[in-house]
Amino acid sequence: MDTLPAMLIPFLKLADAVMLTDSQHQIIAVNAAYEKITGYTQQEVVNQKASIVRTSYTPRTTHEHMKRSLASGKAWSGVFTNRRRDESLWHSSITITPFEIGQATYYVGVFRELEQLRSGYYLPEERISKLQSSMLKVLAISCEIRDPGIEEHLVRVRELTRRLTVYHNNRLQLGWNLEKINQIANASILHDIGKSGIPEGILYKPGQLAYYERQIVEMHTQIGADIIEKIYMEFNDELLANELTTGKNIIMYHHEKWDGSGYPQRLCEEEIPIEARIVSVVDVFDALTSARPYKEKWTAERAISFIREQRGKHFDPAVVDSFLELLQHAEAEQQYQ
Ligand SMILES: [Fe+2]
Repeated sequence: MDTLPAMLIPFLKLADAVMLTDSQHQIIAVNAAYEKITGYTQQEVVNQKASIVRTSYTPRTTHEHMKRSLASGKAWSGVFTNRRRDESLWHSSITITPFEIGQATYYVGVFRELEQLRSGYYLPEERISKLQSSMLKVLAISCEIRDPGIEEHLVRVRELTRRLTVYHNNRLQLGWNLEKINQIANASILHDIGKSGIPEGILYKPGQLAYYERQIVEMHTQIGADIIEKIYMEFNDELLANELTTGKNIIMYHHEKWDGSGYPQRLCEEEIPIEARIVSVVDVFDALTSARPYKEKWTAERAISFIREQRGKHFDPAVVDSFLELLQHAEAEQQYQ
């Protein structure tokens, strides 16, 4: 361990918790506020790596960002969730500043304890969104587990829905924020969860369905809405509430048509929630351009001309316009043709 350079000593007088480390990120000193907040004494932590108090509640990306910043000689600020000596968690806003003293680098970490949460952790928005998205994906796959190609279809629907939603929002200046866009994209993966309630013999039957069989298949919208309702009641948590409401609209209305000839409620035009109008175009496009055991695969050109032909009939004309423009985009053409 290096001895403590004199110019770092004043930092230990700060009212915030302070940790001083050497170039190897080994702790060389902490101040009284640090001892009080964490429960560790200076003797216990000196010579230990600064990472001893680390927890998995601080995302790996936060650590990586911090390391990159410090390695390039820059100060770094962020939020950490660390562990006290008694195993409880504490959340702090931290600034770490590198100091060159002689030939060596030292780091001064100043921790300001964040207001105590009554429960839970500080989590960054992206991490919450990723958790929500993964949970919805697992839910969607488990509901449609009988269909072997389903995971790829669902992920493609989610990604194309995301791109179409972003494009539509920009083109028409709708003012949707990223949270709303993520909600629509994440929830799009749930559109067919109600198929779990439809007998396989009907669901995967090649060729034309009889009238009563079609009636049964069409029930997947209502069955899916019932499933999501139950999950909603079970979770009863605002973390998923918006996703589930958006999900319910998509599940219930993704087979409604702009001209009112769809199902289950024969809604017309803007009576159909916008998220369902978007997913409807994406779902049909992906289904047409995918091979399934019970149907042939269409070329992208044929599927695009079908979508164009259904503008104002099956599909919202404004969403079709966004979709066609999006596909004209070189990158989109590369990926979907
Ligand atoms: Fe469907």
